[in-house]
Amino acid sequence: EKGGYDHFMLKEIYEQPRAIQDTYRGRLLADQGLIKMAGIDDNLEKFMNANRIIIVACGTSWHAGLVAEYIFEDIARIPVEVEYASEFRYRNPVITDKDVLIAISQSGETADTLAAIKLAKEKGAFVFGVCNVVGSTISRETDAGAYTHAGPEIGVASTKAFTTQITVLSLIALKLAKEKGVLSKSKYHEFLTELENIPSKVERALLSNELIEKVAEVYKDATNCLYLGRGYNFPVALEGALKLKEISYIHAEGYPAAEMKHGPIALIDEHMPVFVIATKKGHYEKVVSNIQEIKSRKGKIIAIVTEGDEAVKELADHVIEVPETFESLTPLLTTIPLQLLSYHIALMRGCNVDQPRNLAKSVTVE
Ligand code: F6R
Repeated sequence: EKGGYDHFMLKEIYEQPRAIQDTYRGRLLADQGLIKMAGIDDNLEKFMNANRIIIVACGTSWHAGLVAEYIFEDIARIPVEVEYASEFRYRNPVITDKDVLIAISQSGETADTLAAIKLAKEKGAFVFGVCNVVGSTISRETDAGAYTHAGPEIGVASTKAFTTQITVLSLIALKLAKEKGVLSKSKYHEFLTELENIPSKVERALLSNELIEKVAEVYKDATNCLYLGRGYNFPVALEGALKLKEISYIHAEGYPAAEMKHGPIALIDEHMPVFVIATKKGHYEKVVSNIQEIKSRKGKIIAIVTEGDEAVKELADHVIEVPETFESLTPLLTTIPLQLLSYHIALMRGCNVDQPRNLAKSVTVE
């Protein structure tokens, strides 16, 4: 049932090229310049007239929501707020019938997310679900939705759910951008074509597995790690840190790289591994200077870079390459090495990768 892999998590990491393809199959018609999603088409007015989109989710799904915030605002020019479902539901939020709420949940059973949906519905908002499990409670409680079609995710640490959620949300953002006329035709078409290239680029990112295993060997005994990224890759830093925490029990924190100087830089010494996402597009020069700051304080730098990178290679202790893509699609690639890294470190530490302590696959308690 693990398809020849030692663990579900590894199998699910390797399934991502196919899972992403399954997510856009029948929806993304690049040659016709079309994105077909019934849940959006049938409710287009709701999205077009929305004052804003509120995204609610927990854990990894919340990280996918953060990536979506960047893409919705950047490409579709729609204001977005992303909230932990557990905070949203208890803070008497201002919601009206002009709001669209998107709830993201792999399992479709997360209690806090479900409660946030109920609250938003009571206040008259239109509620859209992005779930993986077909027929799940959240998929039934929402007004409309789009499934991720990632297939069953058994490993407790979420992997392919994350990349397929980002895929669905990118499709929605592109579709709305086209409807609103805020994205040039040529850019829109380039996006559709590039989305179709993503599965083979994920495949290429997976080829670094052996190198990542060697990096894991070096840092497996760390007690603390930092993960840094900017822009679209800030949520990837958060997700990288969460993956490491939950399966290897190493304390890890994700930060926007520029926040370092406001506190966390005090933590840097020769014992601190710092994982930095430093891909070519998106504030590259700024990230390079952040890397210099860490290096001058003797931190160990493991950088995720674009294939062919020169500048970061000079500075970092280890570099892991991912193929080049549009800035807004980089999270689909940069997250791959971080997933593999957590997997190998957890394994080397003798942890139960698929069933980490204290965690459950669906969190149906509040
Ligand atoms: C992380 C993880 C959790 C879930 C969170 C939300 O690897 O598994 O953080 O992402 O509990 O779960 P869903 O997406 O099912 O609502």
